[in-house]
Amino acid sequence: MGPEERRREETQRGEKRGEVGSPVLRGSRSGHNGGMSDSPAPLADPHLVFDPVDGVRDVVILGSTGSIGTQAIDLVLRNPDRFRVTALSAAGGRVGLLAEQAHRLRVRTVAVAREDVVPALREALTAEYAPGETLPEILAGADAATQLAASDCHTVLNGITGSIGLAPTLAALEAGRTLALANKESLIVGGPLVKALAKPGQIIPVDSEHAALFQALAAGTRADVRKLVVTASGGPFRGRTKAELANVTPAEALAHPTWAMGPVITINSATLVNKGLEVIEAHLLYDIPFDRIEVVVHPQSYVHSMVEYTDGSTLAQATPPDMRGPIAIGLGWPERVPDAAPAFDWTKASSWEFFPLDNDAFPSVGLARHVGQLAGTAPAVFNAANEECVDAFLNGALPFNGIMETVTRVVEEHGTPGTGTSLTVADVLEAETWARARARELTAQTARTAPMAQTTTAEARA
Ligand SMILES: NC(=O)c1ccc[n+]([C@@H]2O[C@H](COP(=O)([O-])OP(=O)(O)OC[C@H]3O[C@@H](n4cnc5c(N)ncnc54)[C@H](OP(=O)(O)O)[C@@H]3O)[C@@H](O)[C@H]2O)c1
Repeated sequence: MGPEERRREETQRGEKRGEVGSPVLRGSRSGHNGGMSDSPAPLADPHLVFDPVDGVRDVVILGSTGSIGTQAIDLVLRNPDRFRVTALSAAGGRVGLLAEQAHRLRVRTVAVAREDVVPALREALTAEYAPGETLPEILAGADAATQLAASDCHTVLNGITGSIGLAPTLAALEAGRTLALANKESLIVGGPLVKALAKPGQIIPVDSEHAALFQALAAGTRADVRKLVVTASGGPFRGRTKAELANVTPAEALAHPTWAMGPVITINSATLVNKGLEVIEAHLLYDIPFDRIEVVVHPQSYVHSMVEYTDGSTLAQATPPDMRGPIAIGLGWPERVPDAAPAFDWTKASSWEFFPLDNDAFPSVGLARHVGQLAGTAPAVFNAANEECVDAFLNGALPFNGIMETVTRVVEEHGTPGTGTSLTVADVLEAETWARARARELTAQTARTAPMAQTTTAEARA
């Protein structure tokens, strides 16, 4: 039986149970809203399962050649009885790897954002496939990932980097797919748009902190949650003062102490912008006010986040740092995937430390809370300006502290946007375009007035 036939059969089975497209309550204690309170349903709710499937789940992986994508493929290849990848998408920077993945997974479609790499991709696929084997269909262009996100499958894993992931996120939700969301930027920049489309239980967070909160929230009711505690490794510059951060180089910033990730999220971890984005993400996913979301520095990255309940209990989710754990939650929920990632070895001594956040050295979390509260286009402006500044820093055009100084200035100049409820995709794109242009102008001024004498990314990687 082919994947589509199998899915159709599974769909029919689900429809008989009255489950497809409508969330199923699991472990509901109060008998309504998955055991949570009467306030609007949060975007992500571990008590709800959007589209239960007993058999193999068909998965589309967006950003397959990146850090999240390759780890997801590792998980799928080790669990053929649970997952089958039907399509892959990438920007087009690594066509050899993409062709190799396509062949190993026998996908039906491969998509690239860059149309100019199609001949190279076709050549790589031809080299990978034996004569007589059918090559996958190729989709190319700016909206190729968005087309795939709406294609026939059970789960879409969005592992694209950057706010370019918004359109695929919206397409997957509109098409009724379960969305395993690693691309936090789509939620940050398009929060109200995502909220308007997502059905209860349709989004499963993949970011490790949010997957941890998701699991800890499964233990109680929403009414009993006092606060969310998001952990931060503190990045490579934990413990440094603002003055000590003035001359750090891209090579130092790219050396994350606990996680191996793509370059943008790695620099965002060094500035703690990533933590700021995650606070906004937690607010949007779990509908908890900003003043009840705390950040704590935990250098070992063993505890991925915690939920404090009103009785004083704190529930923490902990594993050695390995993204395959949260990816398995995203692809497999409500089931756990055996041996998704290594567990702790309790026969060995270990120290787990927690420190308060230094808001002076790392002002990004405070600024993120501010833009999150402003809502509307403010988070999109924050994120877009930051992406430009990260690029400038990696190219040696901006000092490390200049990233947040520039982002703060762009956010201030943007002012107070309209309310989030009337946000459109056009508003987001317009705000991003303005923020990128303004951040580029400001970084160019910085580069003219204070030329940098530091290693660029290319030098750092050499
Ligand atoms: N890595 C982690 O451990 C981690 C943890 C938590 C959350 N996240 C989040 O997960 C997302 C991915 O992060 P990452 O570290 O995996 O990034 P990454 O290693 O830089 O990979 C990004 C992937 O997205 C693809 N891509 C870029 N632009 C695209 C476009 N326009 N259309 C289709 N694909 C495109 C890239 O393709 P090419 O290879 O062709 O460039 C690559 O496959 C980010 O939102 C990040 O914040 C990552």
